[in-house]
Amino acid sequence: MNFEQAWLDYKGKAVSTEVGEIKFICADVQDELIRNSVKELQAAVKAMTGKEPVLQADSFESKAEQQIESISLVIKEGVKAEGYRLLEKAGQIIVEASDSRGILYGTFALIRLIQAGETLRGLHITKEPAMPLRMLNHWDNMDGSIERGYSGESFFFENNEILVNDRTVTYARLASSVGINAVVINNVNVKDSATYLITDRYFDQLKAMSEIFAGYGIKLYLSLNYAAPVELNELDSADPLSEEVRAWWKKRMEIVFGAVPNLGGFLIKADSEGRPGPFTYGRTHADGANMLAEAAEPYGGLIIWRCFVYNCKQDWRDRKTDRARSGYDNFIGLDGTFRDNVILQIKNGPMDFQVREPVHPLFGGLKKTNQMLEVQIAQEYTGQQRHICYLIPMFRQVLKYRTYVQESNDTVEDIVSGRTFGQKNCGMAAVANTGNDENWTGHDMAAANLYGFGRLAFEPDLTAEAIAKEWIRVTYGVNKKAEEILLNMLMNSWPAYEKYTSPLGIGWMVNPSVHYGPNVDGYEYDRWGTYHRADHLGIGVDRSRVGTGYALLYNEPNASAYDDRERCPEELLLFFHHIPYTWKLKTGKTVIQHIYDTHFEGVETVDEMAAGFEKLKGILPDKVFERVMKRLSHQKEHAREWRDQVNSYFYRKSGIPDEKGREIW
Ligand code: GCU
Repeated sequence: MNFEQAWLDYKGKAVSTEVGEIKFICADVQDELIRNSVKELQAAVKAMTGKEPVLQADSFESKAEQQIESISLVIKEGVKAEGYRLLEKAGQIIVEASDSRGILYGTFALIRLIQAGETLRGLHITKEPAMPLRMLNHWDNMDGSIERGYSGESFFFENNEILVNDRTVTYARLASSVGINAVVINNVNVKDSATYLITDRYFDQLKAMSEIFAGYGIKLYLSLNYAAPVELNELDSADPLSEEVRAWWKKRMEIVFGAVPNLGGFLIKADSEGRPGPFTYGRTHADGANMLAEAAEPYGGLIIWRCFVYNCKQDWRDRKTDRARSGYDNFIGLDGTFRDNVILQIKNGPMDFQVREPVHPLFGGLKKTNQMLEVQIAQEYTGQQRHICYLIPMFRQVLKYRTYVQESNDTVEDIVSGRTFGQKNCGMAAVANTGNDENWTGHDMAAANLYGFGRLAFEPDLTAEAIAKEWIRVTYGVNKKAEEILLNMLMNSWPAYEKYTSPLGIGWMVNPSVHYGPNVDGYEYDRWGTYHRADHLGIGVDRSRVGTGYALLYNEPNASAYDDRERCPEELLLFFHHIPYTWKLKTGKTVIQHIYDTHFEGVETVDEMAAGFEKLKGILPDKVFERVMKRLSHQKEHAREWRDQVNSYFYRKSGIPDEKGREIW
């Protein structure tokens, strides 16, 4: 299958004027990372100017101060690990870093500046990554399918084999260019062949892949089957306190890390949605995680243990059990009991990647445990890469959220960057949105989420808008009109999606299992713990102190605000409270009128986005234009379907007509 280069397609870009003068690259090529940095610079400059700069081993003394003639890559103390400094001195561009990864990131940063047409004169920039781990989680299965994948099949696996080819290299370049340093290649639901990834059946290919990754500063990680000793038919138990089981894992880790030296560790989904775990043996998550961590520790391996644990066989009649509470309730009592090389990976919200959720209460709850934030760029519940939904503004809100776990340095970003508790093992992971489609992400605009995730994890102070702008420039070149239109589309897309789908934080209302398209009662009488509780008088789940008590899991002042329907942030009102349709919001509108209005507005925004995009015919490459236009016409229709189903449902429930007399069915 052919594939494009996404934002690494340097051809025909409007570039910094000085770049044409660059004749030399000076570097002491000590390792693969620096070799790749040189290769990248040579390819970029050549594609942009037609002339490939020559590699020189010695540093180059610039004679003509008027011209920028060389780029030097220099290892030098002074910048934090993986950080870089870009300087221009007497016609020489210098990329400085204290390690080779920093050189690589600095190189990609320099290329970005060139692509974006920035001047290189007087360059003086220092950047250090905020988060130690900047990770992609692929949910790829070994048969080639991708769980919640919306851009084709896997490019890591096919027919239960591992693929290592040109695409692997381009993938590593794309990931590394935005600062990703860790990648899990297989689905968290580890079954069948994937259980054998830790056996010699797959070591050669894994090693080959991990070496490509290593050249771009990326550690390879695998999702692990907790019950591997049993499912590989070697033991009849996976009890984490059994000596036999512990010895089995120690041996296994020795073998795996021996065979795949660039392995970073493992991601584990245990006791969740039918996956095996320590509960089977009456043990805790800490018992399970610590057993694996002890075995992986001699090899510097990390155990990333997911907190997405809940009862997925709930009775919808039961109003006390609350899925939102379960992550917290399962893990809070274990705070401080995990080994140093265990990280708990926590989804951004307590439910499951809805268009709007409160921040997960484990952030701010846990005080003595390594933590990692998990977000999803795969848009499972946010339009599945057929609708545009630029999620970086949402992720940024989550990062900037104050948990009040202490007086200062208390945001989610502080916690997962290691500033709050001084932890080293922490960071941010995204469920990836790539597949083997030619353009990698199905929807061309969805590449902004892939790009943006990496950039945000490296530099969370960048605004979502700045990231979007940068992505537009490096992908489509510098063109004012394109920039204005695309930026508008991206920035309006998440608010629009929220408006025409589920209102005020209630979430869900989707078709069960596929999670696409409107179905207000789709999950209402089901076992998954995802209800809206609408009746003829009102809608919402009472999670206040008199309801499920979930609101009180937060630190003050958040807990009191969520608990009180008068003070609860309105975008989350129905998440926390059951509210009458006639309740007046701060806008002066009733809840029911808000539902009607936002659903009409959301559709209007999509129409405007599509009309704006049409003006880019002839400006964007034809192929891109056609692909996006096709998806936009689907989005226009599908947004209407959402609007009409949701509005009609609540009109029929409440019997309250739209004040504006618009057509509701
Ligand atoms: C969601 C998703 C599943 C996935 C799960 C997880 O529920 O629908 O496909 O396995 O999240 O995060 O583990």
